[in-house]
Amino acid sequence: MSPFDVWRVREDFPILKKVMNGKNLIYLDTAASAQKPKVVIDAIHHFYSLEYGTVHRSIYELAAQSTEMYSRVREKVQRFIGASDEDEIIFTRGTTESINLVAYSYGRTFLKKGDEIIISEMEHHSNIVPWQILAKEKGIKLKYIPINLEGELCLGTFKELISERTKFVSVAHIANSTGTVNPIKEIISLAHQAGAKVLIDGAQAVSHVPLDVESLGADFYAFSGHKMYGPTGIGVLYGKRELLEAMPPFLGGGDMVESVTMEKATYQKPPLKFEAGTPSIAEVIGLGAAIDYIESLGRERIDQWLKHLLHYATEKLQHVSGLKIIGTAKEKSSIISFVLEDLHPLDLGTLLGLRGIAIRTGSLCAQPTLKRFGLSSLARISFGVYNTTEEIDHTTAAIQEGAFLLRPELSY
Ligand SMILES: Cc1ncc(COP(=O)(O)O)c(C=O)c1O
Repeated sequence: MSPFDVWRVREDFPILKKVMNGKNLIYLDTAASAQKPKVVIDAIHHFYSLEYGTVHRSIYELAAQSTEMYSRVREKVQRFIGASDEDEIIFTRGTTESINLVAYSYGRTFLKKGDEIIISEMEHHSNIVPWQILAKEKGIKLKYIPINLEGELCLGTFKELISERTKFVSVAHIANSTGTVNPIKEIISLAHQAGAKVLIDGAQAVSHVPLDVESLGADFYAFSGHKMYGPTGIGVLYGKRELLEAMPPFLGGGDMVESVTMEKATYQKPPLKFEAGTPSIAEVIGLGAAIDYIESLGRERIDQWLKHLLHYATEKLQHVSGLKIIGTAKEKSSIISFVLEDLHPLDLGTLLGLRGIAIRTGSLCAQPTLKRFGLSSLARISFGVYNTTEEIDHTTAAIQEGAFLLRPELSY
């Protein structure tokens, strides 16, 4: 495997030339949303400038070509995640919509009063709230797999929680707050032994973890385009064909119907059954370009680079006085959350922002996880393909300094 040339990769991202508050941008918030390479920006620009037409509706050339391009991205996603059939790939607006689709359609149809759903204490709000809504509406019990102080799932307790009443399990592949990589194969297998279906929230994983949903055995796998160097407004729900076929539509409207009379409608087969209305066509094209981009770098090489950054930054940050890393799982992704003894995360975020350093601060959309650690706010740095060890050095120095506003010489 050839070495990862981060300085060449950086050339692919126009925004990295940006100067923020007189400093070169250091972008350390990829877990929230990744920056976009020029190939993705160009693909969308080119599509709107020269190729745009709607899909699935008309036979004029532009519409036919658009439809063809749109379908090709579906096949690309299918190969990218190791699904066996392109009809198992549903385009949504993002992970949040994908999970809501399953909770709404599968949950309301196949789950009933007295059933149990298991999620975990480390979920993003988008993998909590849809299940809470469903549980309340149907009289379903929602249980949480606890996490230990390293931020790892307590699998022993999971085994105790799961029973024949468990009908659904939904957990993150990688936690956005602690970076913990979960043993999803084992979780899926345990859930299946109990007869439960499993959704994996892959929002933090799909851009760098080589993935084969088929061999994993996941019933559903959800992710967002914007976290994998693609556009906002596009996401994916993978679902096993037989489940998607049995599920009723999520939204009703154009494109998802076969026939409509004044009395009733019949529906398309999946995936169109779940894609009501004019879809996010340009965003799908952008997602296709993002997949090509990731594949051109290689997911294994990306993963290795991100792990290198994780280890380098963890080592550096450990020497910052008063800094405590939250989330020290043995299997960790390139996300580091922390608190500083004397500086509130929001103040730190503001101070770093003034130095052109973009980090995430606040509840990280994971309030129950933070509560587990007795916190209400965290600072988080997370890495993408464009980050360097030099950026980590600079950021660590800036954090260490704390009062660096008074030290303008600390520039990158
Ligand atoms: C683990 C995880 N799940 C779900 C989401 C929600 O993704 P989106 O806002 O793109 O729908 C995020 C976003 O931060 C996430 O990190």
